[in-house]
Amino acid sequence: MAEGPYAKERLLKKYEAEARVCASAQGDPALDFYSPFGPMIAKTRLPEALIRRINAYADGVVCAGKAMEFLLPDSLIAQGGEDSLTQHTARLVRRYVAGMEGSQVERVEFEVFWIVSQYAGTPSPVHFHSADISGVLYLKVPQIEAQEEAKSYISGRQAGYINFLIGGKQRFSKSLISFKPQVGDFYLFPGWLLHGAEPFRGSGERRSMAFNASLAGAAPG
Ligand SMILES: [Fe+2]
Repeated sequence: MAEGPYAKERLLKKYEAEARVCASAQGDPALDFYSPFGPMIAKTRLPEALIRRINAYADGVVCAGKAMEFLLPDSLIAQGGEDSLTQHTARLVRRYVAGMEGSQVERVEFEVFWIVSQYAGTPSPVHFHSADISGVLYLKVPQIEAQEEAKSYISGRQAGYINFLIGGKQRFSKSLISFKPQVGDFYLFPGWLLHGAEPFRGSGERRSMAFNASLAGAAPG
């Protein structure tokens, strides 16, 4: 446990954003934008060998055309030692927390890894996770048919993409961000952050893996 006024000051630093310009408007004089508030979404990649290992297992479980979710067994997620899914993910989670809060995580405790297998028309309603930190990895992506422009900012938006949402509409604050799934892309985000995917029209499987983890040893709020 940190002690003394100096240590307290260091703990509080985790709430303070760096004064980093994220965008600039064209024109003179310069008009620079800062966007210091809100949750952080991190994007990275997992090695192809790991993607192949997870897909090889999932290929034996999925049923073409039938949407389903299933857990990954402990034997699979621990396979490969330092190159295992759990070790890769734990290292990324530690980097996420270090980058976001400047603190070291003692233990990353994984609650569950699971596969979501979807086909045309499968909805993923907006939801949050129970965990401190969660992630989604894309394992297969479908051919998505071009669709008409979304009628609203939530329902029908960017079919097949993952949409992260926050707080409804607030003036001068963004409300959502959408990412197009690509095989190997891995997103880490706070478990409380709302997200979902609208059903797509097209062929093939949209396969993703998600995880939930709790953190031990991170600086308390
Ligand atoms: Fe989710």
